[in-house]
Order: sequence, then C-alpha cells, then structure tokens
Amino acid sequence: MNDADRWDEKYRDGYGRSISVPDSFVLAALESTQMPREGRALDLAAGNGRHAVELARRGWTTEAWDVSPVGLAHLDEAASEAGVEVKTRVIDLTSCRSSLHGAFDLVVLVNYLDRELLPHLASLLAPPGFLIFITYTTDRSGSRPSDRHCLKPGELAKGLPGLVTELYEESEGRAGLIASPTRAITAPR
Ligand SMILES: C[S@@+](CC[C@H](N)C(=O)[O-])C[C@H]1O[C@@H](n2cnc3c(N)ncnc32)[C@H](O)[C@@H]1O
Repeated sequence: MNDADRWDEKYRDGYGRSISVPDSFVLAALESTQMPREGRALDLAAGNGRHAVELARRGWTTEAWDVSPVGLAHLDEAASEAGVEVKTRVIDLTSCRSSLHGAFDLVVLVNYLDRELLPHLASLLAPPGFLIFITYTTDRSGSRPSDRHCLKPGELAKGLPGLVTELYEESEGRAGLIASPTRAITAPR
C-alpha cells in the first residue's frame, strides 16, 4: 500500500480526530522573540492541520501540503470551522524531494521523518526564514512510530544541511529545532 492509501485509510478510521491542539514546542517557537509574526507559512505533512489552522489564526498566509486527500479534507473542515483560509496541496514528498522549491518565511514539520527530505528543506525557505521541526526519537517510551520513522537520540543535534540551528531541544523522546537558512556573510567595505 502506498503512503496516500495508507494515510487515507487512517484518516477515514478517525486518526487525528482527537489531536487538535498544536505541539507545545511549535507554540513556544511561534512565541519566541526572533520569530516573525506574519508572512508565508507552510505546514509540511500537515495531516488534519492542527498547526496550519493555528498559523492561519495567527495571521500567517498559510499553505498545507500532505499526501493524504482525506487528511487534507479534514483540514479544510477545521479551517472553515475556525473561519480561516489555508491553501492545501496533495503532494507525495518521497517522489519530489529534490525538486521542492518555495519562498516561505516559515516551514513547520511535525511528526514526519523522511531522512532523504531533510537536506531539501532549506530550498523551501526565503532568507531570513525559519524551520520548526520536531518529531519522536527512538528512546520515546510509550506509543511512537516504528524505529525507522524516529530520530536516533542526538541525531538532530548535528543540524540540517543549509540551515543554521538557532535552538535545539531533546527530551522525553522528542527532538526539535528551530533553524534558518545559512546567511551569506557580506565582507565590510
Ligand atoms: C503523524 S502525521 C503528522 C501530521 C501533522 N504534522 C501533525 O503533527 O498533526 C504524519 C503525516 O504525514 C503525511 N505523510 C505520510 N507520508 C507522506 C508523504 N510521502 N508525503 C507527504 N505527506 C506524507 C501523512 O498523511 C500524515 O498526515
């Protein structure tokens, strides 16, 4: 079964219905002093859109990309209930990682790990932009994705290609970072 069919089935079976509150690391990152308060935001692997709806509510011009049309239909419902607009796009990230391109001021990626995608995240950001990324690590106790969909402890501490880590946190089986595109250094005249 491909990702789209697998996730459509999960969302039809009610996956995520009870998860409507944004991740606390994302909320704290949005409140941090360095974070802009508006601009173009992308919720990647957005699912039912708990982060996309929050971003739109805060005034960001928001897009949400995901492989599951059913998940994105749930997102559309949530956005319309919240009275906000989110532009959705069905996309299989595994088949277009290297052609990803965007000029977003903020990219949010939560609970989705595809290691081959990570080197391409910088191409989605317009400097000075921000990536907020958080997901599970293998030392998480209790319910979590399979090992291959979890970071190894310390793995994210190395940072991501083309991005400078502004903040890194790892605790209780979760690892997250805020990162920005590498800034060009202009020599003084
Ligand atoms: C665990 S959910 C996380 C959803 C959301 N980020 C959140 O935190 O609520 C993982 C999401 O990744 C999406 N996904 C899985 N494989 C994908 C792929 N190949 N391309 C794009 N999205 C994918 C699923 O449809 C699902 O919505």
